[in-house]
Amino acid sequence: MPEFVGAVDQGTTSTRFMIFDHSGNEVARHQLEHRQILPRSGWVEHDPVEIWERTNTVIQNAIRAGGLSASDLHAIGITNQRETTVVWDPRTGLPYYNAIVWQDTRTDAIAAALERDGRGEVIRRKAGLPPATYFSGGKIKWLLENVPGLREAAERGHALFGNTDAWVLWNLTGGPNGGVHATDVTNASRTMLMDLETLDWDDELLEIFGVPRAMLPRIHPSAHPEAFGQARTSRPLRAAIPIAGVLGDQQAATVGQVCFSPGEAKNTYGTGNFLVLNTGEELVRSRSGLLTTVAYQFAGSPAVYALEGSIAVTGAAVQWLRDQLKIIKEAADSERLAAAVEDNGGMYFVPAFSGLFAPYWRSDARGAIVGLSRYHTGEHLARATLEAICYQSRDVVDAMEQDSGVHLDVLRVDGGVTANDLCMQIQADVLGVPVSRPVVAETTALGAAYAAGLATGFWRDTEELRSHWQESKRWEPRWSEERRAEGYAGWRKAVERSLDWAPV
Ligand code: G3P
Repeated sequence: MPEFVGAVDQGTTSTRFMIFDHSGNEVARHQLEHRQILPRSGWVEHDPVEIWERTNTVIQNAIRAGGLSASDLHAIGITNQRETTVVWDPRTGLPYYNAIVWQDTRTDAIAAALERDGRGEVIRRKAGLPPATYFSGGKIKWLLENVPGLREAAERGHALFGNTDAWVLWNLTGGPNGGVHATDVTNASRTMLMDLETLDWDDELLEIFGVPRAMLPRIHPSAHPEAFGQARTSRPLRAAIPIAGVLGDQQAATVGQVCFSPGEAKNTYGTGNFLVLNTGEELVRSRSGLLTTVAYQFAGSPAVYALEGSIAVTGAAVQWLRDQLKIIKEAADSERLAAAVEDNGGMYFVPAFSGLFAPYWRSDARGAIVGLSRYHTGEHLARATLEAICYQSRDVVDAMEQDSGVHLDVLRVDGGVTANDLCMQIQADVLGVPVSRPVVAETTALGAAYAAGLATGFWRDTEELRSHWQESKRWEPRWSEERRAEGYAGWRKAVERSLDWAPV
């Protein structure tokens, strides 16, 4: 009997494969970064072929690193950066264009037009999303309008759309030789093309974006024993293994953090930050700038919905200090630098590189560093960067409390930035509630493994998964109420400046 479950985590900056045992403990992993292609200001692309090759390599290397063979895997889950849009030719398996990444703002004019003429309201009501550059619908429209011959190919069934889950799934299950073209409800809920109530593609939404139905993958529950097919023996796994879980990375982290009851929430710190609150079988519509989305659906059960606060740039701001400003060598150095000063000295940094997402939804906002004097140093900028991560999370926590009436007693966190002790301490200070990190901080891959393992009977039920969750560290708030209120007021003022800075 195979003893392990594997998970592909196809993220914004890297792809990893992780293997877990029955207790949800990590057994092995391998991870590789891929290129961030930045052809113009505001444009962000990935090479889908590079992503698929990296996926292949990390699967093989993780299995080898664990001293295992593919047949030791009971099932596989796939989780992914959401919204990022790939369109490929099923006859050759080659993409028509680079993947347009969720952070890309080239569809600004498309989003603005939808907002102007009332179609935005239809999208809000049916898809639970504001018209914004973030989601897939506008990106598909852009490709159909800008890649020569693509619209015609799509209408004749010679072009398939997928987010990177569907792209990896199609390739893993055979590619041009019978690959399965499917996705799950969580990924589909980020396209602006799915009706949240019917959980199916919606004709009116397809019409708004001019997307032919023939391009779209079939939508399935996030955990299903057969719908996603099996990894082909000739592919990297060299054994027929069921792919039984597919879900977007933030929803996967929600499952990995065992937020299975209404009112439970997690905040993941990656390239961006994503706060997800389980609202149960009830579809809660936000009045405060959050998204309504699907948290997960296990086969045979109704969908579970969520409210989400999506923040485009958090860890990516630290990468900007490293790669563009070059004031640190590694992301981890931001902690040492920021710790050298007591506070931000009145400086705030609003890293609105992709406009501002929740709760503002302003594609035209631009980054701002305000409050500067000659006294300021790189150390203050590092501190202001960590604070920006935490203040943006405070914005979405406040919005979530307004929408749901749920008051968080503790914030469950995960993701790379949670290794930064100072940042987590600032988070507790800025929120005024404790912050708690689990032992397995890679909850995204874990959640995809959980979905696949639940679908195939490797794990019995969600109660069994709950028993795996253990806290590794907790940060208690230390700031006075006065300092918290002052700091946050400064942040809101800085955000106003960034919103003012619409490009001329
Ligand atoms: O919605 C975008 C999100 O899914 C990307 O997550 O962790 O790859 O930055 P991450």
